[in-house]
Amino acid sequence: MHLSSPTPFPQNRPRRLRRDAFSRNLVRESRLSAHDFIYPVFVHEGTNRREAVPSMPGVERLSLDLLLPVAEECAKLDIPVMALFPAIDAELKTPDGREAANPDGLIPRVVRALKKEFPQLGVMTDVALDPYTSHGQDGVLDDTGYILNDETVQVLVQQALAHARAGVDIVAPSDMMDGRIGAVRRALEAQQLIYTRIMAYSAKYASSFYGPFRDAVGTRGALGKADKNVYQMDPGNSDEALREVALDIAEGADMVMVKPGMPYLDVLRRVKDEFRMPTFAYQVSGEYAMIKAASAQGWLEHDAVMMEALLAFKRAGADGILTYFSLDAARLLRG
Ligand code: PBG
Repeated sequence: MHLSSPTPFPQNRPRRLRRDAFSRNLVRESRLSAHDFIYPVFVHEGTNRREAVPSMPGVERLSLDLLLPVAEECAKLDIPVMALFPAIDAELKTPDGREAANPDGLIPRVVRALKKEFPQLGVMTDVALDPYTSHGQDGVLDDTGYILNDETVQVLVQQALAHARAGVDIVAPSDMMDGRIGAVRRALEAQQLIYTRIMAYSAKYASSFYGPFRDAVGTRGALGKADKNVYQMDPGNSDEALREVALDIAEGADMVMVKPGMPYLDVLRRVKDEFRMPTFAYQVSGEYAMIKAASAQGWLEHDAVMMEALLAFKRAGADGILTYFSLDAARLLRG
């Protein structure tokens, strides 16, 4: 093309602010810090026991003694909370998942040890039956295989009480039964456990991105081809997410969560805008595995993609992120 006369200059030049690092830093709207992270970890019985989870490169199941140095590292890096997930020995799994409520079970013992060694580090536990049931569902079944609501909630309440009595800071019901936040809150109040915080997995979708997590806690085999569609949310819905969050807040949740993360950023934004609650996103195992696998192939640049994905949660309205990248990202932020 032939340019004869000088082109009229653009009315606006948004690139001006992008020209130098200092001005990009100056006008950046969202930022990550180590304080944004909740680090999910997998724990199992024994001592000096470490097992890699092949579908989650860099993630291991650890016995308590090996978890303690990880907790110390979290505290050093200013990561505020560690979230515990158990891989339960097969012989303790039953159809009703009653081991979940054992006050001397794996999770209560790990909670007590962590709070004793690192009282300043927040500890969160998952309230759900799937690691404890022989069928891998998050609840008790009737004879047709349907997951019963109110019967399940009764066990969940006992599980939450066992964790709270062990001194956990945050209980996080991830089961998606109706009314469980209210039931747990009432039980905690009745026992004077008034400082136990509840982070509700409020909008938890029936997602195919949970596969590697099910490897980590050892429920994939038990579940087989079964799905969780009769309690977790339909991926096509987002008005429903707002109704779920509204119920959980009314029932006494202190914090709410959207899960999975990156495929549901629109839901995260809607929830934050509507309720202005402390709102969390769970970057789930499948999201982690995709980034790991693609970077192992050389198709994506690991650290850059990790930080971009995490920052996107902040931009979309998250107050914090549950992420398996917590340690890596916090170390990178240190420089
Ligand atoms: C179980 C639970 C799941 C996750 C957290 N808690 C899996 C499921 O609902 O089947 C998934 C986390 C992840 O994929 O990283 N109640």
